[in-house]
Amino acid sequence: MNLKKPLPPLDVAEQQRYIAQVHAENESCRIATGKSLYAFVQTFGCQQNEADSEKLAGLCEAMGYTVTQDVRVADLIVVNTCAIREHAEKKTLSIVGQYKHLKEQKPSLIIAVCGCMMAQEHRQNDVKFRYPYVDFVFGPSSLHRFPQLLCEKRRLGKRIYCPEEAEYTVVEDLPIRRESDYRAWVSVMYGCNNFCSYCIVPYVRGRERSREKEKIVAEVRELVQKGYKDITLLGQNVNSYGKDGGRAYDFADLLSELDAIEGDFVLRFMTSHPKDASRKLIDVMAASKHIAHQFHLPMQSGSDRILSSMNRHYDTEKYLGIIDYMRKRMPDVTITSDIIVGFPGETEEDFEDTIRMLERVRFDMLYSFIYSPRKGTPAAEWEQVPREETAVRFDRLLAVQKEIGKEKNDALVGTTLRVLCDGVSKGNDALYSGRTDGNKIAFFEGTPSDVGKFVFVTVERADAFALYGKKEN
Ligand code: 5AD
Ligand code: SF4
Repeated sequence: MNLKKPLPPLDVAEQQRYIAQVHAENESCRIATGKSLYAFVQTFGCQQNEADSEKLAGLCEAMGYTVTQDVRVADLIVVNTCAIREHAEKKTLSIVGQYKHLKEQKPSLIIAVCGCMMAQEHRQNDVKFRYPYVDFVFGPSSLHRFPQLLCEKRRLGKRIYCPEEAEYTVVEDLPIRRESDYRAWVSVMYGCNNFCSYCIVPYVRGRERSREKEKIVAEVRELVQKGYKDITLLGQNVNSYGKDGGRAYDFADLLSELDAIEGDFVLRFMTSHPKDASRKLIDVMAASKHIAHQFHLPMQSGSDRILSSMNRHYDTEKYLGIIDYMRKRMPDVTITSDIIVGFPGETEEDFEDTIRMLERVRFDMLYSFIYSPRKGTPAAEWEQVPREETAVRFDRLLAVQKEIGKEKNDALVGTTLRVLCDGVSKGNDALYSGRTDGNKIAFFEGTPSDVGKFVFVTVERADAFALYGKKEN
């Protein structure tokens, strides 16, 4: 393999050949040593990465590895990284640093690092020079090459840095090992064309590519038949679905078609871009049987000046128009958003505009982030807001939202909501937890037989982040 040049496409038959080759080698090793080989897949970042990791784990299984949650027994470690903010990158590098001693204890251990960080040359170089015990690296668009890279690593014995793909494609029919047997991710498209001035995603995940609708419908149908109860359609900007092929069939059409599938399930999607969130989409949701009345609509800032320098292509008036229409058609809708604090050029007045928008819209929940300069994006070159100012603004934003979140959740006290039970709560093992159709966390006294099933919970009290209630029999 010439590692300097972009790689030509790898077809399904070739992928299968590499999978079979590693499988055969692993099988001979198992017979010789009497021991299975174990693979540990670790995920950082967003839902798209979690979905990718399910494919990486599926590929590991197809190659004859047993997937483990215990890194200490692993013969293969795959770290799937995130590049969205510096904090995520630093955390990942520190974890990769900790694997050095595992390699020292077990020199046959193979360590691969993949995902968004590895689509950036400077991060590949970090691994190259600072983590010499990492065996191979590849970016998100080369996920399907994982068996090939593993094969080549074993054959050549040297480190491999996978270059860019010559063409970013949609690769179908990879094996998958889903984490849950009642919640599932289904990607509908990959990549992003928007180039928001702060965001690294278009550089590391390439341009928008939509999956064929037949493939998506077949996957969702199969999941429903297998008993999956909560299915989330994924894409960096789901509202652009189909536009890359110039298709007349859009995301609202896809949702309508999926909603017609018979069964007891809830359908969600993320993420939507306000510039493309159409009334047609909201109408489909309002009239649907299965689509959750839940909308994640990242606003990023409440200042029109900042939205413009973020290259977001909407203003607060347009944003409010969508919110108002959504609430008119679905009065029970849960609306969440992303906000970036301290974007370059953000003044105290811009920030006050954001606070005013929070008070006007009243989100159910916010994911708020301090702006993190990303190398290669335009905003990273602009004058930065001093750290101390951002920290004060960030705390203020959290405090304002906490009050709104509490009031929104208090309004649900006394109502009975459908909740998909996830099991015993991690923070309080006397209670079970689950998600409402609006995707709010609910705690209640449950039983082991509730796990993976819909139960009904009457809300008795609430805080800003969760509901607490009693399960109805
Ligand atoms: N700094 C801070 N937050 C960011 N996001 C994306 N890029 C950055 C960045 N450079 C946030 C946006 C996006 C969410 C997934 O992450 O709010 O919607
Ligand atoms: Fe990043 Fe903007 Fe694309 Fe979202 S829409 S992935 S924020 S560039």
